[in-house]
Amino acid sequence: DDPEDLVERAPIVTIMGHVDHGKTSLLDYIRTSKVTADEAGGITQHIGAYDVTTKTGHKIAFLDTPGHEAFTAMRARGAKITDVAIIVIAADDSIMPQTKEAINHAQVAGVPMIFAINKIDKPNANPNKIKEELANMNLLIEEWGGKYQSQELSAKTGEGVDDLLEKVLLEAEVLELKANPDKNAVGTVIEASLDKGRGYVTTIMVQSGTLNIGDITLAGKHYGRVKAMFDHKGKKLKTAGPSTPVQLLGLSGAPQAGDIIKVYDTEREAREIANSREQIQREQSLRTKKHITLDEIGR
Ligand code: GTP
Ligand code: NA
Ligand code: MG
Repeated sequence: DDPEDLVERAPIVTIMGHVDHGKTSLLDYIRTSKVTADEAGGITQHIGAYDVTTKTGHKIAFLDTPGHEAFTAMRARGAKITDVAIIVIAADDSIMPQTKEAINHAQVAGVPMIFAINKIDKPNANPNKIKEELANMNLLIEEWGGKYQSQELSAKTGEGVDDLLEKVLLEAEVLELKANPDKNAVGTVIEASLDKGRGYVTTIMVQSGTLNIGDITLAGKHYGRVKAMFDHKGKKLKTAGPSTPVQLLGLSGAPQAGDIIKVYDTEREAREIANSREQIQREQSLRTKKHITLDEIGR
């Protein structure tokens, strides 16, 4: 892309952390407290990704999938769709195995981390202990002279959540996240399912370009024209630019999480690529079967 074509885009955030430290609670709090009133009466349904506008007027996109799964499934396919990782740590607990794993995932992927020290509303919360444990792992927080942003918060009362979002924006500013919105869309599949009545529903994150109704898309071995697009509140969208999560209708099947989705100029092109992928897969599975059969004979 020509640097002149690049414009600022919203950060895409994944929340990770140990079991029961409050990932879902935090995602829920952010979603319900930040979405505008037009959600009232709307159908709240699970969606693998959503975006919010902060009180300061900036957009942030969140991946609402178990953080570890998102990282492993997507990294396995070479997709990198997280800009910032929030590591949730319960202040009434300690750095636990899955906390360490989450930190490791972020570090290996080269994704900056912000530590969200959660559950500070609890009488037995001890955020200092968490900060010390982090320091012992060479993860010194800014407040203590280090480089890592951290935020004490409660996903239950909401205290500290706005400050956390501002810290995400600060991190994003440093990253200078940009994309070209004026080209065919490229994105990543977050999840897909078959909805009786609507057909295949695919949640994607647009990463560059702009997706439009009628565009010919291909993800994995499934293709089709975009029939409709919705945001996480079920509101119809006509276009979706970089860092926009959307649910789309129109694919011929359910691609896998982490598959790249691209727009093609002709349906023929998309179909040919889909067919060749299908064929490669068939050959691979035949080869595996043959291998097993020979092995069995050998034994
Ligand atoms: P898994 O998805 O199972 O790994 O858990 P999780 O990290 O998504 O944690 P979840 O949001 O399900 O929270 C676990 C429990 O902690 C629930 O009972 C929450 O109500 C509670 N909880 C989460 N955040 C807070 C908080 O800030 N304060 C208090 N008091 N409880 C919290
Ligand atoms: Na839980
Ligand atoms: Mg959860």
